[in-house]
Amino acid sequence: MTTGGIAVLVPGGTGQLGRELVARAPAGVRMHAPGRAELDLTQAGAVIEAVTALAEQAGADGLAPIVINAAAYTAVDAAETDQARAFALNADGPRVLAAACSSHRVPLLHLSTDYVFAGEADRPYRVTDPVEPRSIYGLTKLAGEDAVLGSGASGWVVRTSWLYGAYGPNFVRTIIRLADERDALSVVDDQRGSPTWTGDLADGLFELAARITSGQAPGARLLHCTNAGETTWYGFARAVLEELGTDPDRVRPCKTGDAPRPARRPAYSVLANDSWTEAGLSPLRDWRSALTEAFPSVEHQQRAGTHS
Ligand SMILES: NC(=O)c1ccc[n+]([C@@H]2O[C@H](COP(=O)([O-])OP(=O)(O)OC[C@H]3O[C@@H](n4cnc5c(N)ncnc54)[C@H](OP(=O)(O)O)[C@@H]3O)[C@@H](O)[C@H]2O)c1
Repeated sequence: MTTGGIAVLVPGGTGQLGRELVARAPAGVRMHAPGRAELDLTQAGAVIEAVTALAEQAGADGLAPIVINAAAYTAVDAAETDQARAFALNADGPRVLAAACSSHRVPLLHLSTDYVFAGEADRPYRVTDPVEPRSIYGLTKLAGEDAVLGSGASGWVVRTSWLYGAYGPNFVRTIIRLADERDALSVVDDQRGSPTWTGDLADGLFELAARITSGQAPGARLLHCTNAGETTWYGFARAVLEELGTDPDRVRPCKTGDAPRPARRPAYSVLANDSWTEAGLSPLRDWRSALTEAFPSVEHQQRAGTHS
């Protein structure tokens, strides 16, 4: 019998989302958020052991167990040439994790990405829209989605986009650094998406976890969850300079083709969040106001020089 409390295992607990989940865990939620050194998702035995321990310990303590998988190979360009490792972590890892969760009847929330879409749409992508990844990273993440949704586990896939937060390298922290180093910054204005603060996403994931563990799980297994609204990387960079209190015109627009990178990015990857709200979950606020709330902590961590 459970007491209403939740025990959460977060593989990838040292990543930017993993650390945010730990920081924002609500009262009554017991977190175990191992990093790669403690729980390597490519080691099947270790994964099975960790899920077994979660199920047994939660059962003994009257808590409802759940896994939120924040581990991933997220180096989008490196994945183009490091395909085996990217598939091992983003596809095989979730497959083993889902099987372990299934055998212990532990629900699994798995994170995925807007990069599963081709990026040629002219309106936000819905969960029912066809996927067509154009990068190895996107392909590996799609394979991970399929592994979770096809596993027979109580699994939910949550696609999100353009993540930033206080922890770990991300676009906002890079722009803060570049604004200190250079007078002018060139940023692409031909890729559109929805910047999403890990703080708001973490709160959303805890809301979803609470629904699942209290027997009110959404029927839909594939959900989109991002901050509302959309912009380009150029618009996002300008907003960061506004938050810094410096002239946003120091950011100059450029085109993706001006600085080719190994992996193709979708030109348009805004996700429609109606799947999230139709499941009765709270919509995330507009990306611009999320940035204003997030900014002091992101800037603090950047200037403290941690995980840059
Ligand atoms: N970042 C974005 O813009 C973005 C956008 C859309 C979706 N997502 C998805 O959101 C999720 C969280 O992303 P994030 O930005 O928090 O990623 P992140 O900061 O790169 O964190 C990934 C975590 O995975 C860990 N990891 C690496 N190899 C591992 C292994 N073999 N076993 C276990 N853990 C391993 C990393 O540990 P080390 O630090 O030790 O390597 C790190 O803690 C991912 O599923 C990602 O695909 C991210």
